[in-house]
Amino acid sequence: MAMASSCLLSIFYVLPAMAADGPVCADGAAPSPSMFAPRSIPAQKILDVSWFVWGICGLIFLIMAALILWCIIKYRQRPGDDTEAPQIYGSNPIELAWTIIPTVIVFVLFLVSARTIFEIDHTSPPPGSLEITVVGHQWWWEFDYPDQGFVTANELHVPLTRDGKSVPIYLTLESNDVIHSFWVPQLAGKTDVVPNRLNHLWLQPTMVGTYVGQCAEYCGTQHANMLITVVVHEEDDFNEWVTNQRTDAVDEPGVTEGRNLFLQTSCINCHRIRGTVANGTFAPDLTHLMSRSVIGAGVVANTPENLSTWVFDPQMIKPGCRMPSMKLSPEEVKQVVSYLLTLK
Ligand code: CUA
Repeated sequence: MAMASSCLLSIFYVLPAMAADGPVCADGAAPSPSMFAPRSIPAQKILDVSWFVWGICGLIFLIMAALILWCIIKYRQRPGDDTEAPQIYGSNPIELAWTIIPTVIVFVLFLVSARTIFEIDHTSPPPGSLEITVVGHQWWWEFDYPDQGFVTANELHVPLTRDGKSVPIYLTLESNDVIHSFWVPQLAGKTDVVPNRLNHLWLQPTMVGTYVGQCAEYCGTQHANMLITVVVHEEDDFNEWVTNQRTDAVDEPGVTEGRNLFLQTSCINCHRIRGTVANGTFAPDLTHLMSRSVIGAGVVANTPENLSTWVFDPQMIKPGCRMPSMKLSPEEVKQVVSYLLTLK
């Protein structure tokens, strides 16, 4: 059932899977937005409580349906029998039973749900957490690693372990504009991202892999193209990724024209490339653009062709997005893209 539902959901996705070289979970499963395949402690707790609630509700349904069916068959009118059935009014034992039993059931469901909510709803970081700030923008995600000292976009990278121990990931959620909602079903429940408010989300991956998610609160034209990719790394791979992200952009030879063009246009008002004068913060940090597998928050794969179309006119790929066409000539687009391709 889990497989069927995840396949069904996948067709509604521009899976970031198409971008990277076939990212998979450690168990070989393709990225899937299915809550039935949890790969994180809070997601597992949510699924457990869901099965428990569905189990009890399913049992009630079966018992009630069987009783109704039994009554319909046993007390049906038989041919030639025109007598009126006995008319019974009131029964204290039965009324007590159908008041007390549902009350007990609701109380049990309440306690179990409340326990799970308290377990997963941390208002302060669990000990040993990696803290990351998530900022929702129309229509992309900013991921700020304050302790590591860099900012990236749309792809959240986290370690499975730190010093060999499972590491809680503690996200602080902020919005730059309207209400968004951060939802990666395999890792945690959804949490709204609200302007002028700090919300928190805890996840603790149990398996290396690539997980996909989606903004889950309608936030404007491109709400549907506000995808999230979470990459859970082995400790060493994560440290390597961090080391790369912390470095400033390197001036590679052969792309001076594109670099100058980029730094002379209004690109730099919105985008930051560390190590250059580009210092904008309205749009994704591009210092390590090519380390990401998607552009436009997952709307297309990060290939040179898509990048060229995007730089020429982002509205062709993501209509309504905040980035305008810079009216560059095809030759200029080529130069800018060849510069961007060096931002590894
Ligand atoms: Cu952001 Cu929907």
